[in-house]
Amino acid sequence: MDKWKGKVAVVTGASAGIGSEIVKDFAKNGIVVVALARRASRIEENVKDFPAEYGKVHARSCDVTSLESIKETFAWIEEQLGSVNILVNNAGIGRKATILTENSEVDKQFADIINTNFTGLVHVTRHAYLLMKKSDDYSMIININSVAGHKVPFFSDGQQSNVYHGTKHAITATTEILRQELIALKNDKIRVSSLSPGVVQTDFFTTGKFLPEDVRMKDHAPALDPSDISNVITYLLQLPYHVNITEVTVRPVLEAF
Ligand SMILES: NC(=O)c1ccc[n+]([C@@H]2O[C@H](COP(=O)([O-])OP(=O)(O)OC[C@H]3O[C@@H](n4cnc5c(N)ncnc54)[C@H](OP(=O)(O)O)[C@@H]3O)[C@@H](O)[C@H]2O)c1
Repeated sequence: MDKWKGKVAVVTGASAGIGSEIVKDFAKNGIVVVALARRASRIEENVKDFPAEYGKVHARSCDVTSLESIKETFAWIEEQLGSVNILVNNAGIGRKATILTENSEVDKQFADIINTNFTGLVHVTRHAYLLMKKSDDYSMIININSVAGHKVPFFSDGQQSNVYHGTKHAITATTEILRQELIALKNDKIRVSSLSPGVVQTDFFTTGKFLPEDVRMKDHAPALDPSDISNVITYLLQLPYHVNITEVTVRPVLEAF
């Protein structure tokens, strides 16, 4: 990871779960991290005891559903740090509900899921790309997708994942679109990958806000740890610059669906 030491990484959804583990591993490897989430105070709490030799972590409040918030964040990055070389698009949410039930509260949740998981990723990526291009250095974009971005399992107790699977399928398509845009631009310095986890032990999975309890208990093997996902990111970053793994799916052993 020496080649990334001192480079700037932006991690969205950095206050909890997979994102907070990525922040820790990046900092441990001497990478300067801009850690973004709505709850910047939670990021600050997570990183307050990091050893002095770790890379600096800048905890910033950024709501990826707000283009204004994204613009302000990247203006700050450009002014204070000058460039971005790693982007991990990790912010993501899911809520239990059905598409076919009329409910204005649920419609608002659907908009939040789409704007966080998909539209936010598109906007953040464009802003990061502009700074990557300006730096003219080797760079990497990693989109945290999901096994839900590749298939829709049949849950015998009812399908309640609504627009979540659609947003993740959109990340699969968008990762490839970005790759093709970079080919058209003849940009051989920026790689883009989709990383698709199965079940990971985080609030997302354990709070029951998303998958119903019975489905979670019955259809899932013991979950991955957030560090498993972060380790795969470290692996992707260590590869030679000309190697682009475009999709990696990581499941816990025995995951059934
Ligand atoms: N856990 C799993 O089983 C699993 C499986 C496959 C894929 N994934 C994907 O992995 C990613 C991370 O999930 P996780 O399991 O680590 O979930 P988590 O523990 O619930 O963390 C989600 C993170 O996203 C942030 N976030 C949510 N809305 C945001 C917004 N509008 N703007 C900025 N940040 C926002 C949250 O921070 P704030 O609330 O502070 O903003 C939090 O840091 C997601 O994309 C998820 O779809 C998870």
